[in-house]
Amino acid sequence: MKQLYGVIGNPIGHSMSPDIHNAALQDKNINGQYFAFQVEPRHLKDAVNGIKALGICGVNVTVPHKVAIMEHLDEIHESAKVLGAVNTVKREGDRLIGYNTDGDGFYKSLVKVLDKPISELSILMIGAGGAARAIFTTIVRREPKQFDVCNRTPEKAESLIAAAPSFQQKRALTLKEAENQLEQYDVIIHTTSVGMYPKTDAVPLSLERAKTGAIVCDIVYNPIQTAFLKEAEKRGLTTLDGVGMFVEQAALSFKLWTEQEPDSSLMRAIVEGKLGGTQC
Ligand code: ATR
Repeated sequence: MKQLYGVIGNPIGHSMSPDIHNAALQDKNINGQYFAFQVEPRHLKDAVNGIKALGICGVNVTVPHKVAIMEHLDEIHESAKVLGAVNTVKREGDRLIGYNTDGDGFYKSLVKVLDKPISELSILMIGAGGAARAIFTTIVRREPKQFDVCNRTPEKAESLIAAAPSFQQKRALTLKEAENQLEQYDVIIHTTSVGMYPKTDAVPLSLERAKTGAIVCDIVYNPIQTAFLKEAEKRGLTTLDGVGMFVEQAALSFKLWTEQEPDSSLMRAIVEGKLGGTQC
């Protein structure tokens, strides 16, 4: 029988998850299909019961259900517990287990461009939302030299860094403060929606003071080459685009469900083909 998978969110029409997962299923010769399900918040509980009743093997979970779905699941894996959010559900018999692969997905894409261990790196993150929390929590476990967070609303940066009480090398900053001290950082990670289609000219802050050789990451992937990454490239900095995180979090979900390692370069090529290096 065909193995069924999917993603639940609202809206969901522009999701590229079906494209990359269906390609990976085909590539691995798995008799399966991945669908996008638009689920209204008032139907979330019924949708979760539907996963069980219909025997769906696994789903990804996206905005706005990542937190709300938790109370409807049978078990929350540590990866999702520490973030308070689920992006992957796996069915095991009659039980639904919630995981989160966002932080590890970003980390997997980041290590590919690092030439030093995390312990030697000073990192700045821009933004303090859900994606930032996943990245902060995952990287802090690897004990970087310093990990500061700046945000438009500084109180949110404060509460984000407070979520890792045992890690001391951290500060919450305003965007201006971060911009003025940018030469301190080896890695700059942008996690807000600034620069996302259709407002593609916007940048979160100026890279004028960035250190030579710094790595600039943007988790926005539509467009792939954001204005922030363009500015970084113009200054000769190393860049990491958001397709890496999107593909790696998907690859980790795929592995949880199928116990097979998908070809992430195939998944990446599909995203690049769809976005065409620009926006859609
Ligand atoms: P996600 O789950 O995708 O991370 P989120 O939890 O809504 O989304 O978080 C959005 C982040 O983008 C926040 O850090 C937000 O800043 P505030 O905390 O000040 O709201 C940031 N953000 C969104 N739009 C922004 C803008 N125009 N300028 C600066 N930061 C912005």
